[in-house]
Parts: sequence; C-alpha cells; structure tokens
Amino acid sequence: MNRRAHITGWGKYVPEKVLTNHDLAQIVDTSDEWIVERTGIRERRVRGENDTTTSMAAAAAREALAVAGLEPEDLDLIIVANSSPDYLLPSPANFIQHTLGASCPAFTIAAGCSGWVYGLATGHQFIQTGVYENVLVIGVEIISHALDYTDRTTCVLFGDAAAAVVLQPTTEDAGVMTFELGSDGSRAHNLWVPGGGTVNPVSQKVVDNREHYIRMNGQEVARFAMRKLMSCLSSITAQAGITPHDLDLIIPHQANLRIIESAAKHLGLPMDKFFINVHKYANTSAASIPLALVEAIQEGRVKPGDTIGMVAFGSGLSWAGAVVRMGVRETELAHVNGNGHVKVSI
Ligand code: UT7
Repeated sequence: MNRRAHITGWGKYVPEKVLTNHDLAQIVDTSDEWIVERTGIRERRVRGENDTTTSMAAAAAREALAVAGLEPEDLDLIIVANSSPDYLLPSPANFIQHTLGASCPAFTIAAGCSGWVYGLATGHQFIQTGVYENVLVIGVEIISHALDYTDRTTCVLFGDAAAAVVLQPTTEDAGVMTFELGSDGSRAHNLWVPGGGTVNPVSQKVVDNREHYIRMNGQEVARFAMRKLMSCLSSITAQAGITPHDLDLIIPHQANLRIIESAAKHLGLPMDKFFINVHKYANTSAASIPLALVEAIQEGRVKPGDTIGMVAFGSGLSWAGAVVRMGVRETELAHVNGNGHVKVSI
C-alpha cells in the first residue's frame, strides 16, 4: 500500500501592520507605479512590536493544528523553514516547539524561499517510511529585519508572514504525489547577506558597509526564477504522469507577478490557473508558498481531490516543487467555506 503525507490542517499569521508602496516612496526613491508595474506588489506586512519569528510561527501552527483536530502533544515532528531566526542559536524550531507546548523533535531548514517545499518533502519522507504520523511544517519569515531601507532594489520586494500545514498519512489517492528539490550554489552570491557570518563577522565595518542586509542581483535571480518555475513545473508534473495543464491550481512562489505571467505565457497556461497574493504580501520567502496555499483553501479555490502544483525558488540559488493532491473526501475540505474547524477524518 502506498503511504503518503497528506495535508490535513492549515493556518496562517500575518502581522497587522501594512506597509504600502506609497509608504515606501516616503522612505526611498521609488513609486507605487514602478513597484506595481515591475512586480505586481501593492503592499506588504511588517512585524509589529510583539511579533517574533516564534510568535508568528506558533500562531499559524495553532490554527493548522485546530483544523487537523490535533493537540501539540500529538505532534511527532516540527519542521520550520526559516532564514530569519529570533536568535542565531538555537534554531527557531526549538523556541516554537516550546511555545506550542509540544514535546516532539523540531528542526529548522534554511533553504531561503524554497525552504517550506523542502520541509514538505522532508515531512513526507518521515511519514512515507512509517516513522511518524503527525508532522507540522511551518514557513515563517521576519525578512524586514534583513532589509536595507536605503536600497530601493530590495526593500520594496519583501514582507513578513507565517503559515503552517499538518501532514498525516493516507493510503488513498491523495497527498504528496511527486517533488523535486534543487540547488545551484555556484550562483549563491546573487542573493545573500554578505556580513554577520563567520567569514565576515559582525563588526563596525560590516554595519557601516550595510553588509548585514540582503543584497540581490535582481536580473540574474529573475532569469533563474523564470527558468526554474517552468522546468520544475514540467518535471514534477511529468513525474506524476500529467502535464502542467492538468493541474487544478498552481501555487508559484510569490516573488514577482511578472515572472509568473511570463512563465504562464511560455507554458501556454491561463493566469487563472495560478493563485496570486503577491499584491497583498510581497515576497515572504519561506512563508510564501504555504501562505498562498492556506489562502487558496480558505478562499475556496481548492476543491476535494484537486491536484496542485507548487514551485518555489530563491536564495541558494535553490528551487523546490511538489505536486500535491488534496483530500479526496468531501468531509476533509468541509471547513473550506468557513464552517469553522472540522475534525478531518482520513
Ligand atoms: O525570493 C527570491 C526570488 N527573488 C526574485 O525572484 C526577484 C527577481 N528579480 C526581480 O523580480 C526583478 O529583477 C526586480 C523587481 C528586482 C527588478 O526589476 P527589473 O525590471 O529587473 O529592474 P532592473 O533591475 O533592470 O532596474 C531597472 C531600473 C534601474 O534604474 P536604471 O539603472 O535603469 O536607471 C533601477 O535602479 O529600475 C531601477 N529601480 C527602481 N526604480 C524605482 C530598481 N528598483 C527600483 C525601485 N523603484 N524600487
């Protein structure tokens, strides 16, 4: 019997504080017009005074656990995709585990914007092998802390958010059908934080040179993103014996609407096959795909039995994609239409 990880719970947390393009135009030499035209982004959320990586992740996780009908102590594993930890040590997964009141193992995956899909594939492995039953996969970022608000080429692009899913086993025709993970470290310096690590430790010079902030070669990353969005979508669907056209919904990494539109055009896919929320949140890195997935479910864009393709890309340079089939039984998506938290039966 084929055992797969199946998504049975989902939740999100976005900070209340909205930073619009107009707000940014007061800080750097940019405009709402430029940002909307080049990226599709209209606003993004930024952490409030009380938001931490841990608190945001825990809020999203609690919602996901409630949807799945699980308690924190039911969890066998917590995987956190994150590149903006509260502290450099220990990993944010440990703080999140403690805050939730769980007693299971917990670790963090740092694979930039691809991290959550890496986490999904990892959680799937633990479930497929029969080792664990209940796995929580969180994507969370307070990326605003790493933004240089004097650099208009990066600070307009990102936002803060958290989202989480619960994975449980199924032997039905649902769950993680295929995935692809990738890395091209030869191009790592196209999207990085040059200072603050062991090669270039924190110093006055690092701070003066603003090397503790994200730097990106936007055009190079955009070319990579376009290519990977198309090739990864093709390969994960081919592995599943289908084509991108057969997918009910595509959830691409929400970095730039132009990249998504361009990939859609090249693949001959209509834009209504893609779920888009980049206009509201900008690029939330590891939280981007799960946040879009959660909103797609909550907005009724996902029906029982739907096959979804997800593709992420980002720092590393890394990429990751997965084909996931949602619950095939009507009851499993019963709460989609806002009926509150319904216990999921598999
Ligand atoms: O999650 C990681 C994945 N990240 C991505 O996928 C990001 C990939 N890259 C991109 O999305 C795009 O390359 C950007 C949105 C970052 C930039 O768009 P672009 O169309 O590639 O612009 P560009 O870099 O070619 O810059 C064109 C002009 C430049 O001015 P000059 O040199 O032509 O005078 C930039 O300085 O636009 C200028 N510019 C801006 N102007 C107003 C760059 N940023 C801004 C800005 N406001 N915020």
